[in-house]
Amino acid sequence: MRFDIISVFPEFFSVLDLSLIGKAQERGILSIDSHDLRDWTDDPHRTVDDSPAGGGAGMVMRPDIWGKAIDTVLSDGAGAGDEAGSVVVAIPTPSGTPLTQRTCERIASDAHHVVIACGRYEGIDARVAQHYAANGVQVIEYSLGDYVLNGGEVAAVALVEAVGRLLPGMVGNPESLVEESHGAAGLLEYPVYTRPVSWREADIPAVLLSGNHGAAARWRKDRALEKTAARRPDMVAKLDATALDKKDKATLASLGYLVPRGGTRPVPVRAREATPRDALALSELAARTFPDAAPAYLTDESIQSFIQQELSLARFQKYVANDRDRVIVLEADSKDLVGYALTIVPEADGIAGLDEGAPVDALIDGAERSGPLLELSKFYIDRQWRGSGGARILWDFTLADLASTCDKWANPGIFLGTNAANRRARHAYRKLGFEEVGTRQFTVGEQDNRDVVFARGLRVP
Ligand code: ADE
Repeated sequence: MRFDIISVFPEFFSVLDLSLIGKAQERGILSIDSHDLRDWTDDPHRTVDDSPAGGGAGMVMRPDIWGKAIDTVLSDGAGAGDEAGSVVVAIPTPSGTPLTQRTCERIASDAHHVVIACGRYEGIDARVAQHYAANGVQVIEYSLGDYVLNGGEVAAVALVEAVGRLLPGMVGNPESLVEESHGAAGLLEYPVYTRPVSWREADIPAVLLSGNHGAAARWRKDRALEKTAARRPDMVAKLDATALDKKDKATLASLGYLVPRGGTRPVPVRAREATPRDALALSELAARTFPDAAPAYLTDESIQSFIQQELSLARFQKYVANDRDRVIVLEADSKDLVGYALTIVPEADGIAGLDEGAPVDALIDGAERSGPLLELSKFYIDRQWRGSGGARILWDFTLADLASTCDKWANPGIFLGTNAANRRARHAYRKLGFEEVGTRQFTVGEQDNRDVVFARGLRVP
């Protein structure tokens, strides 16, 4: 690959004679020539700029000088077989598109001649990019990032290095290109360590020294997911969900990203307290999810009558307006509700749901209850989000919210009833730390049901 760099500071590029890129030049993998733009001027002052048309501050680089310079280096390198994309004019500018690894990969695989035109001042007359783009050259106006440099020279070095290292023969082990940041996995790279094992009180994570390659790979993947979620959430939202395994999804869920059923990308979700504006969406969600949890013997009539009486818009308006009814919603970034939890908080150290079979005498986390007994009256995840890890996020937020509401009590408790036949729900509540403490009767429409009653403490162990 041939690079020609044109700049008013051609000496700048001696750095490219060092290190891997310098060696690659010696080995003939690439050639780099830098040129002084002023060599194409024809006045004694070697002027390359002029004042901006339309007025304004600064100076603009002249198209006639740039045209002569670029034409010369292009014709020097022209080959009979120049195909589309094989000749690139790259123009670094803070107003360009962000330079990405994908662009560098494309240049490395398609181009054989790259001319880099380094502007200074307010930039290069816009007709230069237009002219070459209209004449069969691939023009890439790129930016290194959202900040302004004094000129394109640093960005030119960056492009040569980022493209150059991808050329065949440059990197000893091409495998190392897969796991690196911005590699095929679409993640930032995991943290790396080397000897000494212990340095300034910090040890290399034991799993990396354990010899257990599977565990080390899992640890690295989890750290890569965490780092990417913290630093580049935009990259997490672009991950291909079909390439994620169960454990990847569990880690992403703990970071606040869920993959819905049939979903192609992880979706950021967020738990928060409900507001009056959620009441309608809540009543719709409740009406959708309640029938899924109902046992088969319940008639449609009973289910519909329960929905109309207990899950109406008016009911939810009341719940969200009342301080003793804690409503937490889990919402996707689309603002669609993923799930909700409604907890009845009694006054002082009272008991919620007393006439609905509250387990007044049950032990709470193996000890006598001391403080109020709350009732988790509703806890639902919408159908397409079930099994995605959303229940855990909703529960963790709900528990933290309730624990802070009841923080003056030593051992407050929370209970819920769920239909004895609903094995999925029973399993889910056990996973959330609840234990079976009894049974109760629960009426839906005109029909009696046997519920299993679960309870646990509000203290996070
Ligand atoms: N020239 C000046 N600022 C630049 C930037 N951020 N990226 C590329 N070229 C530039």
